[in-house]
Amino acid sequence: MKSIKVGLLGIGTVGSGTFNVLKRNQEEIARRAGRGIEITMVADLNTERATELTNGEVKVVNDANLVVNDPDIDIVIELIGGYGLAKDLVLKAIANGKHVVTANKALIATHGNEIFKAAQEKGVMVAFEAAVAGGIPIIKALREGLTANRIQWIAGIINGTTNFILSEMRDKGLDFDVVLKEAQRLGYAEADPTFDIEGVDAAHKLTIMASIAFGIPVQFDKAHVEGITKLQATDIRYAEQLGYRIKLLGITRQTANGIELRVHPTLIPSGRLIANVEGAMNAVMVRGDAVGETLYYGKGAGSEPTASAVIADLVDITRLATADPEHRVPYLAFQPHAMASTPVLPIQDVTTSYYLRMHVADKPGVLADVTRILADSSISIDAMLQKEPSEGETQTDIIMLTHQTQERNIEAAIAKIEALSTVVGTVMKIRLEELG
Ligand code: NDP
Ligand code: HSE
Repeated sequence: MKSIKVGLLGIGTVGSGTFNVLKRNQEEIARRAGRGIEITMVADLNTERATELTNGEVKVVNDANLVVNDPDIDIVIELIGGYGLAKDLVLKAIANGKHVVTANKALIATHGNEIFKAAQEKGVMVAFEAAVAGGIPIIKALREGLTANRIQWIAGIINGTTNFILSEMRDKGLDFDVVLKEAQRLGYAEADPTFDIEGVDAAHKLTIMASIAFGIPVQFDKAHVEGITKLQATDIRYAEQLGYRIKLLGITRQTANGIELRVHPTLIPSGRLIANVEGAMNAVMVRGDAVGETLYYGKGAGSEPTASAVIADLVDITRLATADPEHRVPYLAFQPHAMASTPVLPIQDVTTSYYLRMHVADKPGVLADVTRILADSSISIDAMLQKEPSEGETQTDIIMLTHQTQERNIEAAIAKIEALSTVVGTVMKIRLEELG
């Protein structure tokens, strides 16, 4: 059977990995796919570098439209990134009857509904395994491996850059900016690294997983997003003393009232496997009603780990290219007519536990005032740490871990605590998840 012809848009970090792995393992991949998979055309702005990377073996163009409009191309891989041009090219490829593979989580999380609709109308596949957790086959696991389950929750370290930053800061005492530069050099960070450090990239990935887990449309605009830029070394240290690690977690959970969809720094018990995921590694925990808790671990970014996921999609498409569209796995796991309209909960409606750090005057009665406010709000304290003030200091830190309460409740209590004359500045609040 003749090879399936692939056009590659963008031969940067992931594109070059895809080209190299596909070439290196072509025989084995063809044995799995049932036919050869061949990149025959590459579009990149830097045609000289693209020609060098592909050893002059494929046609290189600088206009991506030439690839999506080429009648000989069966599958288009979009690895340019961003929402504007990438969306345009993906929709053009679909309109031209081509299957699409993309690693672009920003695109899928924001324009996925429109893209899937267009693809369904045209009877083509859109695959995006590489968009979530790099090389970990989490889309496949959620969409196919766990298909028997009612998914209850997902919690994941799904941004390699921020996990790398938090690990290096804690272990080597390095500065935030130094580690971020290293993550950029290693090819982990997004073109705009604020997407990584402000939690946006993780929220893109979480949005996609939530849709597949719960059968809801992609709704990135409803996600609650907080990054790691406000985290302080003090909090990382206090958390350790209390037996917790701080990780940037993406959490989505089905509750009686709706779906939680949130990314924020989170305290996790340090004994949990996921708390020990370090560097650019990613890990995703999924709890299903039948299977219980499962954990998926691996490289969440980088050239060849991400290429591994891109090529898995190429193989899937190659195997299914001749199947009836209705017999293929639905884009978001659920049949398009069976999607749910379960609401995504605003963060004020989320219930979880909290770490609170407050800087207070070292005077009798201060602790009593704080605990009274919490008790009046029906918030119970799980653990507490009070630092001895340093020599000559008249102020100190109090750290509290609370039992579960609603976000609006803790916010109201914090406002009252901050209004106390003995409390200096603002109260630091970090959410806590036992994940048990
Ligand atoms: P890179 O910036 O390394 O690569 C993008 C490539 O696209 C560059 O070679 C760039 O050329 C080229 N390009 C830009 N504009 C055009 C255009 N108009 N036409 C043709 N080519 C163009 O990005 P990555 O490989 O890191 O990321 C690609 C996608 O994969 C993104 O969506 C990213 O979010 C996603 N992703 C990345 C991961 C990673 O570890 N890096 C992991 C998972 C997903 P030039 O350099 O000349 O501008
Ligand atoms: N910037 C992303 C990260 C790349 O650091 O995880 C992988 O999606």
